[in-house]
Amino acid sequence: NNYALIMAGGVGSRFWPVSRTEYPKQFIDFFGVGKTLIQSTYDRFLQICPPENIFIVTNEIYVDLIKEQLPQLNENQILAEPIMRNTAPCIAYGSMKIAKINSSAVIVVAPSDHTIANQNGFIQAIEQSIEAAEKNNSLITLGIKPNRPDTGYGYIQYINEVLKTDDGIHKVKTFTEKPNLELAQSFIKSGDFLWNAGIFIWSAKAINHAFEKHLPDMHEIFQQGNSFYSTANEAEFIANAYLQCTNISIDFAIMEKADNVYVLPADFGWSDLGTWASIYEMAEKDYVGNAVIPSDQVMMFDSSNCMVNVPGEKLVILQSLHNYIVVESNNTLLICPRSEEQNVKNIVADVKAKF
Ligand code: GDD
Ligand code: MG
Repeated sequence: NNYALIMAGGVGSRFWPVSRTEYPKQFIDFFGVGKTLIQSTYDRFLQICPPENIFIVTNEIYVDLIKEQLPQLNENQILAEPIMRNTAPCIAYGSMKIAKINSSAVIVVAPSDHTIANQNGFIQAIEQSIEAAEKNNSLITLGIKPNRPDTGYGYIQYINEVLKTDDGIHKVKTFTEKPNLELAQSFIKSGDFLWNAGIFIWSAKAINHAFEKHLPDMHEIFQQGNSFYSTANEAEFIANAYLQCTNISIDFAIMEKADNVYVLPADFGWSDLGTWASIYEMAEKDYVGNAVIPSDQVMMFDSSNCMVNVPGEKLVILQSLHNYIVVESNNTLLICPRSEEQNVKNIVADVKAKF
């Protein structure tokens, strides 16, 4: 009864020039491990459900990339969206389609662009949540201990009350998606908040019921597709359905509103890889702090704490360079002090305008 719904329709703009709209971060092998982030995500789920139960929702512009990177998927496992409408329609569509295949499905919804250091810890947390979602009509999310007032995350405040069947899974008191800095700072100070990892576990029944309650229009739209899912007419139905969908994330649409949200505090070396700094942090480093991906054609002399990612044949030589990012992609080479990373997004528009 276990299913995975991997969300892979987001556009990556932060990792310019490596990740671009045509090639967002889920399709990149940031760590030089021979697998892109979406391939690693898929492999993790092979330990949780049968391969035919893994579904990917993506924009139609990325379908070819998915087929290339995950050739083992059949057509019916790739759900193509005609337009970007954020994660609520993506999940409504996927859950409705899976519910038609198996009405007692338990679905794990996961992003495709995160990294997880401790695979066993992850699998354990997911299995524990699946068991709970089978027995309870609850919406379960995984919570990560925060270490800074980042405004790019959802914040979860939980209480002592636990699920009847599992005393490790707590009732959520408040869910605040992407608070402003002041609010995020007060959450961190108070100490009883977790970050939403963006990984959700629920039964198809529970999530479809939540849509019916909190987003009835969207529920109605995808409910109408029931006779089309997994048939030759699915794409045509979806093209029309998406035109009617509001653009909203699952976090704002459901998680902030529902009263049956639960959280499993988890610690498995999670990172959503939002910045080069987070890639550097997760990457393997040598004894002077250089993270070099891939490493065979890079030579470093008196250089430390650099992040180098230059795929291909080019020989790269660094002399006396400290605390720099050196990354190349799409015929574009970026060299920038690690501390100035935030400024890159400001220059991207200028660069794009010129080239
Ligand atoms: N199919 C599809 N369609 N996928 C999408 C779409 C879409 O329109 N938009 C985003 N995604 C995918 C992204 O590729 C990513 O894997 C996942 O859905 C989450 O979307 P993001 O856009 O990366 O969300 P976020 O990072 O701003 O916020 C979410 O994740 C945080 C943790 O990383 C929220 O759930 C936060 O609460 C959470 O803390
Ligand atoms: Mg994200």
